Amino acid sequence: MRVDIITIFPEMFEGPFGHSIIKRAIDSGIIEIHTHNLRDWSTDKRKRVDDYPYAGKGGMLMTPQPIADCIDELKSEREYDEVFYTSPDGELLDQPTLNKYIKYNNIIILCGHYKGVDERIREHYITKEFSIGDYVLSGGEIAAMVLVDGLTRIIPGAIGDEMSALSDSFQDGMVAPPAYTRPRVFKGWEVPEILLSGHEKKIDEWKLEQAEKRTLERRPGMMGE
Ligand code: ADE
Repeated sequence: MRVDIITIFPEMFEGPFGHSIIKRAIDSGIIEIHTHNLRDWSTDKRKRVDDYPYAGKGGMLMTPQPIADCIDELKSEREYDEVFYTSPDGELLDQPTLNKYIKYNNIIILCGHYKGVDERIREHYITKEFSIGDYVLSGGEIAAMVLVDGLTRIIPGAIGDEMSALSDSFQDGMVAPPAYTRPRVFKGWEVPEILLSGHEKKIDEWKLEQAEKRTLERRPGMMGE
């Protein structure tokens, strides 16, 4: 998958994309990420990318020209499956939605800033607005990172253990069951006996039971309650 990120802070992505699963996925060619500094497309002599809203009070808007020029250039080079825009008004990102997106080959993510973007960009360029939660962030970069991270780890081959992504919380509509590692007794607290029994079928049943119980306790909406 190729991801083109349009942002006024390209440096913000260096840290998160330079480590762990995303770095490995980039190094092995599973995902290709290109960040584009929006200011480079601005025809304004001071490279401005924001302006005052018509008939609005307070708060600047992202101007349409640099965004349109950047997206037009990218689209002249290849076809895109989706042009995302990070926005608290967008559709809430969840695991089933991420699972749908992994079929995409090329995507653009426009990171929102200020009071948002000129409506004509939303109408004519953006195909999907997404939110990472019902709160307002200071900009769209962190939301873009969340989308890229969530997508990368479910691309086949990104995680060493293929089964690991499939057994995540949410993958089967439930949160994950409790998990334990060594030592068997820590500060007097023991690992549940069943996990040491070697009885695979009973262990699976126990895990399912625990996952259901946890989901009902913590996220009842997830199981359609
Ligand atoms: N920009 C500001 N807040 C956001 C949110 N919650 N999700 C996505 N983009 C945002």
